[in-house]
Amino acid sequence: MKEHRGRLTKDGIRIYEQDDFAGMHAAGALAAQILDDIAQHVFPGQSTGVLDGLITQMVEDAGATSATIGYKGYQHASCISVNHVVCHGIPGEKKLKDGDILNVDVTVIVDGWFGDTSRMYVAGKLPRKAERLIQVTYDALFKGIEMVKPGNMFGDIGHAIQAYVEAHRMSVVRDFCGHGLGQVFHAPPNVLHYGRPGTGAVLEEGMFFTIEPMVNLGRPETKTLADDWTAVTRDKSLSAQFEHSVGVTADGFDIFTLSPGGKFHPTY
Ligand code: MF3
Ligand code: CO
Ligand code: CO
Repeated sequence: MKEHRGRLTKDGIRIYEQDDFAGMHAAGALAAQILDDIAQHVFPGQSTGVLDGLITQMVEDAGATSATIGYKGYQHASCISVNHVVCHGIPGEKKLKDGDILNVDVTVIVDGWFGDTSRMYVAGKLPRKAERLIQVTYDALFKGIEMVKPGNMFGDIGHAIQAYVEAHRMSVVRDFCGHGLGQVFHAPPNVLHYGRPGTGAVLEEGMFFTIEPMVNLGRPETKTLADDWTAVTRDKSLSAQFEHSVGVTADGFDIFTLSPGGKFHPTY
């Protein structure tokens, strides 16, 4: 077993070894490939359940394992969050309509390593206000990623994201955060998408975690529906999210979930 590799910091964050980056790249590349391949299946009239069925098949065809099927009782290979759904949307019968925006979030396990990524898609014609939201969310993720290097702090990541989003008069969701991952799905630290510079744990080479900001056009508050999963904006405003799994290198970051086809952004 390759469990408990590396060591833990005083904050309980695992420091992985040089060789472990390869395992994360394999898992991340598969998750990203699946998100590339699902793009052609997103169109008005398509159901989110069919998209999830295709993703389940892609995971199986790759000889990998879905991290979400069976996770805390969740029964699907993806979360699909449409319009005002913030995250953890459950795939089902409901069909996409022209102008809907959706986040598809996939986590796979390859050889014991977890690859977790999500991105936005559009069914049909992208409405102007949704386009703005998606662009700000996309750029906010990379503002956060740019802060990833040894010596910076987790508060620097959160602050960079929050400052960028709020400068565009949008809001950062507080109720969900990124997370450490590696040979487990969710581990310390909680990676907040808001915060103050110079606060939180110090980043060290060998840390693996996700950054996955959720941004709302309206207020930041969310509520969870009776299904105990689906999180929506309380004010029904549109919400968007992008997620990468990253590792801290000697002088910066390594993105494990880069799109093999260069299709992370929905429109370019
Ligand atoms: N992939 C999600 C994340 O980014 C977690 C989904 S858990 C599920 O952490 F059970 F809802 F699938
Ligand atoms: Co995640
Ligand atoms: Co995810």
